[in-house]
Amino acid sequence: MSTPRRKALITGASAGIGATFARQLAAQGHDLLLVARRGDRLQSLADELSGRHQVQCEVLSVDLTRVDASATVMAHLDKLGWHIDFLVNNAGLSGHTKFAQTPWSQVGGEMQLMMTALTELTHRIAPGMIERRWGRIINVSSLAALSPPGESLLYSAIKSYVLVLSQSLDMEFKPHGVHVTALCPGFTHSEFHDVMGTRNIANHLPGILWQQPDAVVKEALAAVMAGKPVCVPGWVNKLLAAIMRPTPLWLGYRLGKAFNPFK
Ligand SMILES: NC(=O)c1ccc[n+]([C@@H]2O[C@H](COP(=O)([O-])OP(=O)(O)OC[C@H]3O[C@@H](n4cnc5c(N)ncnc54)[C@H](OP(=O)(O)O)[C@@H]3O)[C@@H](O)[C@H]2O)c1
Repeated sequence: MSTPRRKALITGASAGIGATFARQLAAQGHDLLLVARRGDRLQSLADELSGRHQVQCEVLSVDLTRVDASATVMAHLDKLGWHIDFLVNNAGLSGHTKFAQTPWSQVGGEMQLMMTALTELTHRIAPGMIERRWGRIINVSSLAALSPPGESLLYSAIKSYVLVLSQSLDMEFKPHGVHVTALCPGFTHSEFHDVMGTRNIANHLPGILWQQPDAVVKEALAAVMAGKPVCVPGWVNKLLAAIMRPTPLWLGYRLGKAFNPFK
């Protein structure tokens, strides 16, 4: 009897880094459940990947800012009869707005999407991985989590949570065969800055700061397989992280205030 293919769940798979995870995991022979709001995009990616790699690709259109979103994802997995072996919590965006002038629906929505949904999906899926003694989880954080804080960037606080949580979960899960990696990309070509409304500013940043999603995802997949709890992809980002991380808090505050290009 042949071994069943491993099953991967990827949030935010309709664009950018998430779609790239889908392509590389399908190429490695994983069946996929692709999750995001834009179902038409998910379906065309699923059709492409199932045709090219002979894997099963399922899609679920769901808004992960909804409080019942994770329960909806789990109900869909039950319907498929799937256990997830590989979880990529990738969906995200940055509002880039003044905190006090932003409605709670938006602030709370960003926290629900990038903190609560990520945490709840991990909480619901990890016990099965632990029971089966094999699992891989990638939580997409950001280089922003390792950088000085930026004014009007709720995003940096959220991504810091993702980084610390992931390291903590890796310590708890690794003895049971489940690796957790926080992926901390720097500037990566995707739709992120179009959604954030900062495309013009982003286009003026030096090219050396940018990475293609293919390179980011390749390094992240290698890191989680090797059991590395944190992955900062690319040598430029590694260098920046090495310089920024030891900065004293008072200096980081001043640098963050002075050099935030998105202010
Ligand atoms: N690009 C960068 O420079 C960069 C740097 C550091 C970290 N990151 C992180 O990388 C991750 C992926 O971003 P990206 O660069 O690939 O951006 P992207 O191209 O804009 O993709 C974002 C993905 O998140 C999904 N998403 C957003 N809101 C959602 C919601 N309410 N419910 C469900 N899905 C939602 C989007 O799908 P729908 O719109 O179809 O729902 C899309 O698939 C994010 O967590 C981001 O914070 C990006």
